Amino acid sequence: MSTITCIEDLRLAARRRVPRAFFDYAEAGSYGQETLRANREDLARVKLRQRVLVDVAERELSTTIIGEPARLPLALAPIGLCGMQHGDGEILACRAAQAAGIPFTLSTMSICSIEDVAQAVERPFWFQLYVMRDRGFIRALIERAAAARCSALVLTVDLQVLGQRHCDIRNGMTVPPQIKLANIIDMASKPAWALSILRGKRKTFGNLAGHVRGMEDVTSLAQWTNSQFDPTLSWKDVEWVRGLWPGKLILKGILDVEDAKIAASTGASALVVSNHGGRQLDGAPSSISALPKIADAVGAEIEVMFDGGIRSGADVLRALALGARSCMIGRSYVYGLGASGEEGVATAIAILARELDVAMALTGIKRVRDIDLGIITQ
Ligand code: GLV
Repeated sequence: MSTITCIEDLRLAARRRVPRAFFDYAEAGSYGQETLRANREDLARVKLRQRVLVDVAERELSTTIIGEPARLPLALAPIGLCGMQHGDGEILACRAAQAAGIPFTLSTMSICSIEDVAQAVERPFWFQLYVMRDRGFIRALIERAAAARCSALVLTVDLQVLGQRHCDIRNGMTVPPQIKLANIIDMASKPAWALSILRGKRKTFGNLAGHVRGMEDVTSLAQWTNSQFDPTLSWKDVEWVRGLWPGKLILKGILDVEDAKIAASTGASALVVSNHGGRQLDGAPSSISALPKIADAVGAEIEVMFDGGIRSGADVLRALALGARSCMIGRSYVYGLGASGEEGVATAIAILARELDVAMALTGIKRVRDIDLGIITQ
């Protein structure tokens, strides 16, 4: 791998290594990608206040996230199909996260199953839940997460129907990969990827295959998702999930103050201010522009997490200053995974940690818990 200095280097390395259909799947936003772009642009507009001649020799990046000690104010977001970025991608990402002392969230739409990951790692991880029409299956999935000792359930609340990502249609994105001439040519030019996938435990959705009907012919992931995911999902179902899951619950995908207030009243441990990485409602505000209002309204009642466009330690600092207690990272770690597996994810986390450390020092901040609005300027 060439010299990696920042997340963008990992992105370029992943683009060289991972077949286009899977790289694009992770990269894309929905429709015109306005919200995807806004996530990055609005973060870059938040200016940090440079402070000088403050003794910052001793700096402390650790914190707690939903009461769990974390060495950084970061968690790995649930990302579908990690095992198609690199063979056994979910296991590798979980190991890298745990070695760095931060939570890993396994997606419902993962390639390695809950049980595969639980057997391969040492500590509990979080499990992300999509609620599908087949409630018997969802009940069983929650039970599997409990049996695997997952320490939190992350309920995604912003994907009752799927926002279209044009590239997935153009690329004929399927799992397992479709045997089409264009795909074969692309994969043949990515031998390291192909080898890692061949060696991986599974080639399809580990949590679903053999458990849910219709997995045999996932011709289009988007079509399949729209036919299986439950569009009737409502706040009542959050109560239903809470009844089945006695542990900590995180509600991911809140962008509106009214919704945040309802989320705070559910007894969930945290909410994640998120627009699903710009992959759902195109035209929705950036996550960072929604964050301060939500943190002001409910920050005293429920822990506020953030995701959407984090590509640097300075971005983490911005989100914490505007009211988040921690950030989830998605694409930033997926690039690392695609670039070089576990080592790549570890590199992504280390880059963000180093950048956060330096950004804290240069804003005169010694401890993560001291980050507040005072470090933001015009
Ligand atoms: C699923 O969560 C997706 O965004 O593709």
